[in-house]
Amino acid sequence: MSFANPKETWDARYRNADGYLFGSAPNAWLVESAGYLPAGSKVFCVADGEGRNSTYLAGLGHDVHAADISPVAIDKLVGLAAERGVRVQARVATIEEWDWPDASLDAVVAIFIQFAAPAARERLFTDIARSLRPGGTLIIEGYGIRQLRYKTGGPGKAENLYDQALLATSFEGWDVLAARDVDTDVSEGAGHHGRSHLVSAVLRKPA
Ligand SMILES: C[S@@+](CC[C@H](N)C(=O)[O-])C[C@H]1O[C@@H](n2cnc3c(N)ncnc32)[C@H](O)[C@@H]1O
Repeated sequence: MSFANPKETWDARYRNADGYLFGSAPNAWLVESAGYLPAGSKVFCVADGEGRNSTYLAGLGHDVHAADISPVAIDKLVGLAAERGVRVQARVATIEEWDWPDASLDAVVAIFIQFAAPAARERLFTDIARSLRPGGTLIIEGYGIRQLRYKTGGPGKAENLYDQALLATSFEGWDVLAARDVDTDVSEGAGHHGRSHLVSAVLRKPA
């Protein structure tokens, strides 16, 4: 994966995909964790791609906002939302361009957003933390270090990967509502397919 021109790289990947690159079904960790979100939550889906996760949450009745660097992905997201008869407030924006609100979101969903290398990730995690209201929820999943061996998705760069210690340090003092570190078979379109090392958590910002 080339990170030199992320917009062009992701546009091409989404344009050339046979259907949805990561499938149209929501991410399994998100489905498992969605019960932590109070009804009618205001949720931001970071780098939501083709919308499998944001449209799922909108279908549950949440007030969902989403952004992604790729206009091709956002077009597909809008199409998926229309097909599912749900509303997602989506726009093309990088994580740096998105207008992070102050302490007002009920939840942030960060599923496979490991394009961010350590310095960018630190800023991103700070923005996520600031944007959540006290008691707000972060649902996060990414690849762990053994993914470098599996090569079934992800950035292929050790420094971009997660472990639970990184999440604990980045969100120090937050309640861990759920966490797992597993090697499991993933089937999320052609983009994420096969044995994978997943690091996942549901974290609650102190009230
Ligand atoms: C592995 S995909 C995951 C997409 C989605 N979260 C999902 O689980 O289906 C990573 C996404 O990050 C987006 N992306 C890459 N760099 C970005 C940036 N700087 N700001 C916002 N989105 C970015 C890509 O376009 C892509 O949709």
